[in-house]
Amino acid sequence: MDRIKSLIAGTALLVSLAGCEQRVVPGWKSFSGDKNIERRVDSVLRLMTLEEKVGQMAQYSCNWDITGPVMTDDFEPYLKKGLVGSIFNAYTVDGVRKLQEMALAESRLKIPVLFGYDVVHGFRTIFPMPLAESCSWDLERMQKSAAIAAAEASSEGIQWTFAPMVDITRDARWGRVMEGAGEDPYLGSLIAKVRIEGFQGGTDWKSLNELNTVLACCKHFAAYGAAESGRDYNPAELSQNTLMNYYMPPYEASKNANVATFMAAFNEIDGVPCTGNKWLMTDLLRNQWGFRGFVVTDYTGINEMVAHGVAKDEKQAGELAVNAGIDMDMTGAVFSKYLLESVKEGKVSEETINKAVSSILEMKFLLGLFDDPYRYLDKEREKNTIMKPEFLQEARESAARAIVLLKNDNQLFPVSKNKNVTIALIGPMVKDKINQNGEWAGKGDRNQSVSLFEGLTEKYAGTNVKFIYAQGCDLTSNNTSGFAEAVATARRADLVIAAMGEDFNWSGEAACRTNIQLPGVQQDLLKELKKTGKPVGLILVNGRPLDLSWEDENVDAILEAWYLGTMAGHGMADVISGDYNPSARLTMSFPRNVGQLPIYYNHKSTGRPLPADAPNTDYKSSYLDSPNTPLYPFGYGLSYTAFGVSNVKLDTNKLDKGGKITVTADVTNTGYIKGETVVQLYIRDLVGSVTRPVKELKGFHKLALEPGEKQTVSFTIDEALIAFYGKDMKKKAEPGNYHLWVGLDSADERNQAEFGY
Ligand code: NOJ
Repeated sequence: MDRIKSLIAGTALLVSLAGCEQRVVPGWKSFSGDKNIERRVDSVLRLMTLEEKVGQMAQYSCNWDITGPVMTDDFEPYLKKGLVGSIFNAYTVDGVRKLQEMALAESRLKIPVLFGYDVVHGFRTIFPMPLAESCSWDLERMQKSAAIAAAEASSEGIQWTFAPMVDITRDARWGRVMEGAGEDPYLGSLIAKVRIEGFQGGTDWKSLNELNTVLACCKHFAAYGAAESGRDYNPAELSQNTLMNYYMPPYEASKNANVATFMAAFNEIDGVPCTGNKWLMTDLLRNQWGFRGFVVTDYTGINEMVAHGVAKDEKQAGELAVNAGIDMDMTGAVFSKYLLESVKEGKVSEETINKAVSSILEMKFLLGLFDDPYRYLDKEREKNTIMKPEFLQEARESAARAIVLLKNDNQLFPVSKNKNVTIALIGPMVKDKINQNGEWAGKGDRNQSVSLFEGLTEKYAGTNVKFIYAQGCDLTSNNTSGFAEAVATARRADLVIAAMGEDFNWSGEAACRTNIQLPGVQQDLLKELKKTGKPVGLILVNGRPLDLSWEDENVDAILEAWYLGTMAGHGMADVISGDYNPSARLTMSFPRNVGQLPIYYNHKSTGRPLPADAPNTDYKSSYLDSPNTPLYPFGYGLSYTAFGVSNVKLDTNKLDKGGKITVTADVTNTGYIKGETVVQLYIRDLVGSVTRPVKELKGFHKLALEPGEKQTVSFTIDEALIAFYGKDMKKKAEPGNYHLWVGLDSADERNQAEFGY
């Protein structure tokens, strides 16, 4: 290491002594824009052979965790020769040290390796899955949970997370809806920003040097969430209009939040796989948006271009990728095997390689790895950081804030601690611990997650609320042998709380479903429980919007708890007991049936929209066997109290060029207990140069109100807020009339107004 340090220092000195500002890579634009760092990058690049440069562009999984098909290439020989830029799926101070030492021991230039990992919703302390967390509409907490995840991961030597996933999702069949922020581009963009700031410690590149931050990775660029038929890896069949107006905003917001890296999506757009898509990776991302970090493929994304049918072999696929603007090959070994040859044959220019390597080296400089490749590796810090009590407390609060109350007849919930009742706890999720973290749950110990049963037992200890239990069935099989005991248990109780859901493996990557009802015989068990005549409250632990049409009609109350992470059981108990009044609002529409998918609130009108007040009109855009509307709309969620919106006012109803409109509305807690609500502003552009959504979220406020309390909220409308890609594909506001609603969900049309621009 000393040798490389002095080589680098020496070269840098020579460069500056000569007053030579010219860099090896003409046209390379650094992430930091810092001349000193650029010089340092340059000083390393000058020492590198072409083979070493290509090596920096290779990333391998060490396979300590398996997050994709295991590849046969052994990365260790490459690592020892200094031909690996990054390793992922390694963790712990000892583990990372071992690999870093291997890389530095024998390699010629001793360039430190960058360690990545999928830190998606926590690393050891697991937070609610991202879709659940997004339902809190609590940006500050989302930023904090990302910062905690970064602190834990970096204390184990990880410097780069493959998160956030910012793909817009409209189809609950797709297993990966759990990883994103739902269907809305406005909310999704704000969430992307705060998650990136949480991971990276802010928007300033200097914070990447802090030991408790990691590089973030905006993924999956682009439109991976639009997978046709909700089947993973399928093409995203969408128009340019849909792509730019709905899917792109969260990626662009990520760039604007200064995300350090992007990941190319597996899917194709318009016949071109994203991994080889020059328009995406270069024209749009770099030239138009000005992104200056580096782009990694997804897992074997380059190799897969052969199966896609756009490259005859892996070598050609590698050329397509690098020439499109890909900098790093995730675990596909294509760059390692063929890129050198491609450069020698003139198929890829050395300048392209130099740019990619400069961007990768720069991140290593920003992280301080060239100053000390072991700087993250401190066992004391690791011990003191992992699962700190304050992290667990934050995870518990986040869990309670992610739970959506979907139905609550006769105020079944909350169950007061002062009651004298016996509750039958029935179902496979009551005592379950291992599913609570959900998918992409880092190194969270599934056995340490708090079950609902543990949460409730602790919560109601010493009270007259008594629990009796029967599992009844499991999550997926057709075995009904436990039904009789479950029914007998329910009969002995005053009230049933059924806890059901999906196995955690049933969502996440490559976990798509064509039937999105409760799996196995869980609904059959609910039917038997209903026959007992006892009130039934259902608590759901799952990874996607489910088809809950039967449940909505037949059970008394439903809490959508999702996968809540390490503190799941405590979060659920906080809500069930009323210690926390649920405040979450859906960020994905819940369909009435799988046939409605994809379903989303911000859809287009069509030329024959179905009149809301005459749903049986013929020759309108509708179904014969189902309403068009979702079961639960975007933005929906109940509370143990009630809220009202009134007095919506605009300070002017003409938006001038460069001007603004201030919208105010009164929000009142009309119930008897304290609670939080999310007041939402929706806008419709009535006539556009292209068709416009029937409404779009354009603002929200989450606020806490005491019983009877009224607060006035205000929203600002300006040109940027209503701008979109019109017929000429230029983003701008178009003159005309606009409608707005201030409501408590996307279907709430009680308070409306108009304005013009
Ligand atoms: C494939 C997934 O699509 C991506 O999100 C993830 O980051 C990589 N595997 C690495 O595990």
